[in-house]
Amino acid sequence: MYEIVKSEKLTPDVIKLEIRAPHIAKKAKAGQFIMVTPTEHGERIPLTMADFSPEKGTVTIAALEVGKTTKELGKMKAGDSVFSLVGPLGLPTHLKQYGNVVSIGGGIDLALMYPVVRAFKQSGNHTINIVGARNEKLLMYEKEIQSVSNEFFVCTDDGSKGHHGFVSDVLKKLIAENKKIDLVYAVGPIIMMKVIANITKPYNIPTVVSLNPIMVDGTGMCGSCRVIIAGETKFGCVDGPEFDGHKVDFDNLTARNKRYIPEEQVALKRFQEAK
Ligand code: FES
Repeated sequence: MYEIVKSEKLTPDVIKLEIRAPHIAKKAKAGQFIMVTPTEHGERIPLTMADFSPEKGTVTIAALEVGKTTKELGKMKAGDSVFSLVGPLGLPTHLKQYGNVVSIGGGIDLALMYPVVRAFKQSGNHTINIVGARNEKLLMYEKEIQSVSNEFFVCTDDGSKGHHGFVSDVLKKLIAENKKIDLVYAVGPIIMMKVIANITKPYNIPTVVSLNPIMVDGTGMCGSCRVIIAGETKFGCVDGPEFDGHKVDFDNLTARNKRYIPEEQVALKRFQEAK
């Protein structure tokens, strides 16, 4: 059992939990994820780490409360315990001094973006960070990401803060201004990552995307997380989660991520009716 030391709502639908797990915190690197099982008979779900502290011996996760398991997490308070945590899993973000790194994130994935952009900055890069959400209230990790940014842009779909429009608009503008860009890193909804990769491809700007396929074991055994990269099958959990955005078959990923929607709806309905 893993004790929750802090529980906080980032938005009405997003829970942030800091959990004591010294063995994971000691080894965790930016870009990796953990498998979380909230209760003994619960489901295992992959969640990216929003932070980790070897000194405090804690890892921090953020979850959008959309399904049964994330709603279970959403009810947890400091002092409660999570049944199981496995990790750190997946390959860490490849870090080096690229030069100008444009990182782009949206919605809940801004939680994952924070440790990655912090690591880019610590590796000596000039960090240009573009964050987006549907509206100002749904922006999260804004201050944290801004604190590790050389240049920082906010976008909202409704114009309530920053640029009125999409994160991709800002990227297009930077390219149109002939900004030197050595790497683009994108994490967020599949459609957003697809759009970003399509924008950078004609300019041959190296582009890394962090994928979110459905996972079961998270260790390369079940095949649930299959993704197609340059026509080859890869496993998101052990070969990723980060891949060359110009080689990802985003349409296949979109279709595969929809395959359990009916079952997810039944599980959520039962969970809500049991309350
Ligand atoms: S989640 Fe099972 S192989 Fe990746």
